[in-house]
Amino acid sequence: MGQFVLIEKYTTVNDFENTQNEYIDLIYEIMQSRKRGDVPIAYIHTYGCQQNVADGERIKGMLSQVGFEFEDKPDNADVILFNTCAVREHAEDRVFGNVGALKNLKRKYPDTLIALCGCMMEQKHIADRMYKSFPYVNLVFGTHALHQFPELLYRALAKGKRVYLRDNDDSLVHEGIPVRRDGSLKGWLPIMYGCNNFCTYCIVPYVRGRERSREKDIIISEAREMINSGFKDITLLGQNVNSYGKNLKNGVSFAELIKEIDDIDGDYWLRFMTSHPKDCTHELIDTIAQSKHISKHLHLPFQSGSSRILKLMNRHYDREKYLDIVNYAKKTIPDVSLTSDVIVGFPGETYEDFKETLSLIKEVEFTSLFTFIYSPRVDTPAAKMDDPIPAEEKSKWFRELLDVQEEIASRRCASMVGTTQRVLMESEKGKDNIINARTSGNIIVETKAPAELIGTFQDVKVTSAGNWILKGELING
Ligand code: SAH
Ligand code: SF4
Ligand code: F3S
Repeated sequence: MGQFVLIEKYTTVNDFENTQNEYIDLIYEIMQSRKRGDVPIAYIHTYGCQQNVADGERIKGMLSQVGFEFEDKPDNADVILFNTCAVREHAEDRVFGNVGALKNLKRKYPDTLIALCGCMMEQKHIADRMYKSFPYVNLVFGTHALHQFPELLYRALAKGKRVYLRDNDDSLVHEGIPVRRDGSLKGWLPIMYGCNNFCTYCIVPYVRGRERSREKDIIISEAREMINSGFKDITLLGQNVNSYGKNLKNGVSFAELIKEIDDIDGDYWLRFMTSHPKDCTHELIDTIAQSKHISKHLHLPFQSGSSRILKLMNRHYDREKYLDIVNYAKKTIPDVSLTSDVIVGFPGETYEDFKETLSLIKEVEFTSLFTFIYSPRVDTPAAKMDDPIPAEEKSKWFRELLDVQEEIASRRCASMVGTTQRVLMESEKGKDNIINARTSGNIIVETKAPAELIGTFQDVKVTSAGNWILKGELING
């Protein structure tokens, strides 16, 4: 893995048109003779977090400019691309398995171009393994080379040589990359890239580079564009949104940024993720409480309920500080919906530590939890720590945690029966006029309603509850 130095300054460049448009034209020419069907087809599979999904939407944006259309299986594709995630071993194993499974397809259609990008490819040992084990992979590039995708694709298509690029230059923020968003109601809006926190278990800072924020005016105009084109549920993205604006010339804070977005007129919800508890201020919680559009939902990963483990994780807060923020949020934002991430089986965690995680979950009563068993990541400090608890024992703790959370979630859902909820009508669920709607707190409410209401906000009365999902009736139905 490369040497990383904290950067004080970074530069925003808007050079996509100048540097990449000529390659878009050249790829267009090549694809005219190379495509298998009437139009070039791409299959893009994204793994991992929303940041990766947002990158995948930019890859689709660039390919759309060449005239590509997209299918959700690889069989007819001229270009197959896996946008990978390195956060846990399981995510990486799936990529190796899925690339292996393409061997026959590539034998049948040798002109199909296979590309790999994203977080995994920013790790040297992985890129090297891909190079050695999968000779039919044509193009490999890391997260820092996203803005150069047309140029790299052109090189791989035109020269017939394998193109491998890992570029650790994280001192630039590239703007002007076209986007083709997957949805038309819910959309992702990256506000910053990278991470400076170096939690001892986590690979993200190594594969996404140092934290850098996008310019406020660019974010505001992208938000305005999304709202004007009908997006109703917009999530601002960053690994630690609370530190937005550090090192920006005009020094805007995250609370100031969301206040400005909140001032944009329109009927929409605004969310953000992820908030890091170490920088989650009362000012931010007050901003949520006073806003018109920010949903009453806070995703605040706690990772462990044990202060001893939090210290080993390098999280810079303890159990008390976490509970203090949560209690302030509960007091300030009525009916706030709290969600979180938690890791079970961090090296050196004892059953006593784990019991503190259980007691924190019981105390906070999260709406839902993303739960993970610790997975060692190459070259991270935690991977070198003593880890004496066997995997079967960790799995037992993990199941115990899931049982406790299931009980809490179903109790929380049951307590909502009889209440009226403002929901966004999102999509049809099969037939029978059932619509999946979502509350501001991110809970699904299945509601009988005509399909024309999709994309509108409605009031529904909650009539029954399952473990994670509610059922409801339109109030004006
Ligand atoms: N920036 C976000 C989360 C990024 S990764 C934050 O700080 O909260 C998403 C989640 O994956 C993390 O919150 C953590 O719970 C989990 N995770 C990260 N590295 C992991 C590892 N090595 N093993 C297991 N889970 C991990
Ligand atoms: Fe990983 Fe920690 Fe950064 Fe989140 S804050 S991405 S968990 S290093
Ligand atoms: Fe995975 Fe990269 Fe996100 S490692 S979790 S896709 S930042």
